[in-house]
Amino acid sequence: MNLTELNRIATAMVAPGKGILAADESSGTIKKRFDAIGVESTEGNRRDYREMLFRSKEAMSQFISGVILYDETIWQDAKDGTPLVKLIEQSGAIPGIKVDEGTQALPMCPGELVTVGLDKLAERLKKYYERGARFAKWRAVIDIGSGIPSMTAISVNAHALARYAALCQAAQIVPIVEPEVLMDGDHDIDRCYEVTQRVLNKTFQELRVQRVALEGMVLKPNMAVSGKKCAKQASVEEVAEKTIRLLKACVPAAVPGIAFLSGGQSDEEATAHLNAMHKLGPLPWGLTFSYGRALQAAPQKAWLGKAENVAAGQSAFSHRARMNGLASKGEWQSSLEKKAA
Ligand code: 13P
Repeated sequence: MNLTELNRIATAMVAPGKGILAADESSGTIKKRFDAIGVESTEGNRRDYREMLFRSKEAMSQFISGVILYDETIWQDAKDGTPLVKLIEQSGAIPGIKVDEGTQALPMCPGELVTVGLDKLAERLKKYYERGARFAKWRAVIDIGSGIPSMTAISVNAHALARYAALCQAAQIVPIVEPEVLMDGDHDIDRCYEVTQRVLNKTFQELRVQRVALEGMVLKPNMAVSGKKCAKQASVEEVAEKTIRLLKACVPAAVPGIAFLSGGQSDEEATAHLNAMHKLGPLPWGLTFSYGRALQAAPQKAWLGKAENVAAGQSAFSHRARMNGLASKGEWQSSLEKKAA
């Protein structure tokens, strides 16, 4: 393993002004997104949609440091025969790959999930590296509810995340370690804080036990936010203050970067939260976005599966990428949103 090179990639993934496009929706998730805009989820439509994003010159060259791909996409070619991975490389962004194989029910733990996909992961990583992937993603899912999460669910998911991270580094691939505490539910921000703290502490404990080099990874956490169904929604300032306090307490400064998931926040909330956190600097790590929905909801609505809407889709994507790029430097203002509208 070449740790200097892993660190160089991880640092580039969180370069100021740039963040990661999570375009790694599984077949089931992308179908849900396409259903919402009345587009059939065929292999061709999925390719056309992602080609539209990766050919968005402004967004990709200025505001996107890396793209997380789904297995199908990394092997796909654009309409003119260029591999989609090449489009990403040509834009200056780094290709990455989701390598977990989704979740399964965790035995003896009703309502809880464990992420699977470790079997044969070493062989798969080798093929992805040859195809151009320089980082990977594995997402663990922790739900908050009555009596959950259990310490069992937190432990097994942290163990799998660390197993995955160690295998990635051995394959010269930077692992994005994503333990997502869901924002569904009616819990308040303090309960989210407390659960996320337990999850992050256990995750870093496992990473240490399994000898993962913290300098060669990126953390992808949720923010400390109120549950979606909680009557009392925390302000932007409270989310920023509590999230930074939480991360400072749990994430060693040796980690080069933290890139948040959006997790169901609105586009503008996700941007405002990241921006407000940068007002609380200086911070010990790079801090940016790795958004799926908060970067793609707008381009999906503009595109609607029609070739004549590609330019509109790209402009919607570039706008969100630019807003989040500014937020990753604490330079975003809500008036910039209104001007564009
Ligand atoms: P969202 O930003 O839509 O939560 O997706 C990010 C992601 O990659 C979740 O695994």
